[in-house]
Amino acid sequence: MTRVLITSAIPYINGIKHLGNLIGSQLPADLYARYNRGRGNEVLFLCATDEHGTPAELAAAKAGKPVAEYCAEMHEVQAGLAKGFGLSFDHFGRSSSPQNHHLTQHFAGRLAEAGLIREVSEKQVYSNADGRFLPDRYIEGTCPNCGYDKARGDQCENCTKQLDPTDLIEPRSAISGSTDLEVRETKHLYLRQSALKDDLDAWIDSKSDWPVLTTSIAKKWLHDGDGLQDRGITRDLDWGIPVKKGSDDWPGMEGKVFYVWFDAPIEYIACAVEWADANDLGDAAWQRWWRTDKGAEDVRYVQFMGKDNVPFHTLSFPATILGSGEPWKLVDHLKSFNYLNYDGGQFSTSQGRGVFQDQALDILPADYWRWWLLSHVPESSDSEFTWGNFQQSVNKDLADVLGNFVSRITKFCRSKFGEAVPEGGSYGPQEDALIADLTTRIRAYEGHMDAMEIRKAAGELRAIWVAGNEYLQSAAPWSSFKTDPDQAAAQVRLGLNLIRLYAVLSAPFIPFASDAMLAAMQSDDRSWPEDVAAALGALPAGHGFTVPDVLFAKITDADREEWQARFSGSRS
Ligand code: 2FM
Ligand code: ZN
Repeated sequence: MTRVLITSAIPYINGIKHLGNLIGSQLPADLYARYNRGRGNEVLFLCATDEHGTPAELAAAKAGKPVAEYCAEMHEVQAGLAKGFGLSFDHFGRSSSPQNHHLTQHFAGRLAEAGLIREVSEKQVYSNADGRFLPDRYIEGTCPNCGYDKARGDQCENCTKQLDPTDLIEPRSAISGSTDLEVRETKHLYLRQSALKDDLDAWIDSKSDWPVLTTSIAKKWLHDGDGLQDRGITRDLDWGIPVKKGSDDWPGMEGKVFYVWFDAPIEYIACAVEWADANDLGDAAWQRWWRTDKGAEDVRYVQFMGKDNVPFHTLSFPATILGSGEPWKLVDHLKSFNYLNYDGGQFSTSQGRGVFQDQALDILPADYWRWWLLSHVPESSDSEFTWGNFQQSVNKDLADVLGNFVSRITKFCRSKFGEAVPEGGSYGPQEDALIADLTTRIRAYEGHMDAMEIRKAAGELRAIWVAGNEYLQSAAPWSSFKTDPDQAAAQVRLGLNLIRLYAVLSAPFIPFASDAMLAAMQSDDRSWPEDVAAALGALPAGHGFTVPDVLFAKITDADREEWQARFSGSRS
């Protein structure tokens, strides 16, 4: 049995995420977790909310709530949506947890002892009205290059020129609009990533099986321009993890917090501690996943994320781990994704464009979304959600192929043999051919799932469903029943067993339908079909079943038109 540690990029706390966020990390990670559990591997699947940083502070201010209260509430909202989509985290943690405070300060202390942190004095814009330093993007003004009056302190959106806040004409705070700004001197900590460049380079080179998307991004940051730059890891904010060296104060850093991207990946570890604490398991329970001196050398660690997150996971977080000089587990495989676009444009949280997770679950059950998203995951390039494609894929794959198969076989059996697996007859050449075909396909499906080739896996699963339908069509028990009822009984017995097999194979993609299929077959046998012929004998003659409710309803043209219109503008 392999032990597999799986983490999904942890979503920002500020607001409900859209479907692009879901398919960019959490959903594929869930697919892989469910598949590995199905294969009998021991899995620890972790995710959390990413709660620090200016966006969290601003979202809380907009909601008129103290930031801690806002985060606690939004965490519950995100946890509820994750449950609604069937995301099977072993723990859904919070980057603001005491465990993460402790670990983040611990890592900072270790890095300081190793001489990998330097202090830098910087000039930064301070807003007297807001009583705070302003990050570059929260300063607005007129672009000196094109005259656009809403240029941000880091870049002009209109002409794309990269700016410094001091370049802006008539700068003002994007938070309050105040022009009462001044430049103040402030001190920050930098992680000396440049000192770890060779170690990181060698480590990336050792990962020959990583997707090109992943390694090319890492290599670009390591080698382009002046090479890997040191990174600021502190901020002048109120909300965050206070800057400390382990448990000691850090002279000169009073009132400052760690940068959100420093503490967020450390939450992957802290989340395991939270999980162990919540379940009273003791330290050894999380250490065997994370400490290579405590058993984690046998763990395969896989991370899932969108491509924009790759630099932090291939460089910054490994720099933190390597720099600590302690035996923490490093990622073994990093699966990254391109972007999902929405109906001719981009999904956008800030503009409320696209379908958001709560809205999606309001209109259709989770499996409809899971199937479409996973079978169209932006793996090798960006992909696009359109309502037409969604309708077609749900109606064809889920309703016509899988749903129809389940409905036909159960209803036919009930009408001719009653609600139990019929006895009589035996499997012949046609059944043997189907078993051989399914065996080949299931082995291919496993290969794609092991390699995290999600689109290929979805294609193979669809082909497995189609094979059952084609068998049913050509075996035609409704005809054979008239001349040879025993033969029809054997065909139906195979069909009912196929439903259980499909439930097991499909569970990573459509877990709710899978549960419904198993419930209808009155079976909790989820064993993986290592031997397909044996798996197709799991439900013996006489085993009871029920005809399930419609597994997947078709999306009508009227539904499609209504939803397309409803989700064409911005979310209010
Ligand atoms: O892009 C995002 O949504 C970030 N919140 C991901 C953080 S992943 C990790 F490092 F914790
Ligand atoms: Zn401009």
